[in-house]
Amino acid sequence: MSQGLVTAAYIVAAICFIFSLAGLSKQETAKQGCYSGIVGMAIALFATIFSETVSGLGWIMLAMIVGAAVGIHKAKKVEMTEMPELIALLHSFVGLAAVLVGFNSFIDAGDVSAEMHTIHLVEVFLGVFIGAVTFTGSVVAFGKLNGKIASKPLQLPHKHKLNAAALLVSFILLLCFVSADGSWFALLVMTVIALAFGWHLVASIGGADMPVVVSMLNSYSGWAAAAAGFMLSNDLLIVTGALVGSSGAILSYIMCQAMNRSFISVIAGGFGSGDAASSSGSEEVGEYREVQAAEVAAMLKDASSVIITPGYGMAVAQAQYPVAEITDLLRKNGTEVRFGIHPVAGRLPGHMNVLLAEAKVPYDIVLEMDEINDDFAETDVVLVIGANDTVNPAAQIDPNSPIAGMPVLEVWKAKEVVVFKRSMNTGYAGVQNPLFFNENSVMCFGDAKAKVDEILAELKK
Ligand code: TAP
Repeated sequence: MSQGLVTAAYIVAAICFIFSLAGLSKQETAKQGCYSGIVGMAIALFATIFSETVSGLGWIMLAMIVGAAVGIHKAKKVEMTEMPELIALLHSFVGLAAVLVGFNSFIDAGDVSAEMHTIHLVEVFLGVFIGAVTFTGSVVAFGKLNGKIASKPLQLPHKHKLNAAALLVSFILLLCFVSADGSWFALLVMTVIALAFGWHLVASIGGADMPVVVSMLNSYSGWAAAAAGFMLSNDLLIVTGALVGSSGAILSYIMCQAMNRSFISVIAGGFGSGDAASSSGSEEVGEYREVQAAEVAAMLKDASSVIITPGYGMAVAQAQYPVAEITDLLRKNGTEVRFGIHPVAGRLPGHMNVLLAEAKVPYDIVLEMDEINDDFAETDVVLVIGANDTVNPAAQIDPNSPIAGMPVLEVWKAKEVVVFKRSMNTGYAGVQNPLFFNENSVMCFGDAKAKVDEILAELKK
């Protein structure tokens, strides 16, 4: 394939990626967005593999077959609730690839013209730095998301000074690296510092703030890919990396707003973890009332307005299908039923929207937190299905809570609130929820799917 054709294919692929992002921004067009991304990636792979500068096709094919087999196996096996950890792991691969491309590019610098030499050295240094931070940061995020690493924030003394020192020493090493016309010593010392920096950055962040970390690492992985694109002089990799990097940064910003965190403190690492431990207790703070499915069904029959606020537990139980059936049944009987979705409900952005779309819940009754929060006061019954942190009033009433300041769904304002969960255990942030002990709250204990199935059977009677 001539260079001209490759460039043309890259432009088409880049346009497909832009369409993909545009499609993914709305539920109705998300599927088309995925297809555009797949087409773009297929074109990009084809053009790259068959370009005249590429040799060793046999090895590439072998690597692709092995990679595709692992990828297909993983994609088929992964549960929806494990998606964030898989994404974190994939981000770590991008980081590691950028580090390896950087080292290789440094060893192989012979092809670079004299006037581009300094620029190339800076590209190598920055690429390895970003890649190494992304690599260890993503490994820690993976560990925290699947519970292998404690979600408690690491509190090293002078942590911000340590981060600043890591950046400063890396900058000095960059100057040494460039002035020495490339030095393995400076490159390797910086790599070790960047690996430790990435580890520390994510380890210092507390459990409830992980959504921001996941989207932030998404952004870092994009910049790592763009850096690799510069080193390999591959325009498409630069464009794609910049798209991922900037869309990840925008998502991080949206997440920060949703969590009421400052964007700058996220980038600095270890925000929202300060001295809040004092109220992060998981002890029960009052008495709660328990109800059975038949009573919940009776409440629903009497209600004229119902809001359902799903959370991570609905995903675990796969309760979205009976929930969709109950919704349908109630709506047919003239009850107004709507869903209130918190931006960080579940374990990945849009998690609840995906589950509800899967169960064919109409999009127009699925509302964002800001759209529905004022309506709880006029609502008869709220069903909190496997949600905890996202409906926790402590975020508003307890300034010492680790989730203080995070906007939450104000479900407690409704006439009656039914909470579906299996026990009195805390949610992801490890904070007890005063909602459960309110006078207008009742607890429906058990697996969310089993309980919703029972209610459905009662309603059908
Ligand atoms: P969580 O606070 O995680 O609470 C989920 C609740 O579901 C738990 O209290 C659990 O109680 C219950 N549960 C689990 N399995 C269940 C089952 N089979 N049946 C019934 N209930 C079940 O949920 P949330 O309100 O969705 O909040 C999300 C949390 O995850 C936030 O802290 C958020 O910051 C964090 N997070 C979000 C993301 C993104 S991007 N969305 C990424 C990482 C972390 P029991 O154990 O008593 O059943």
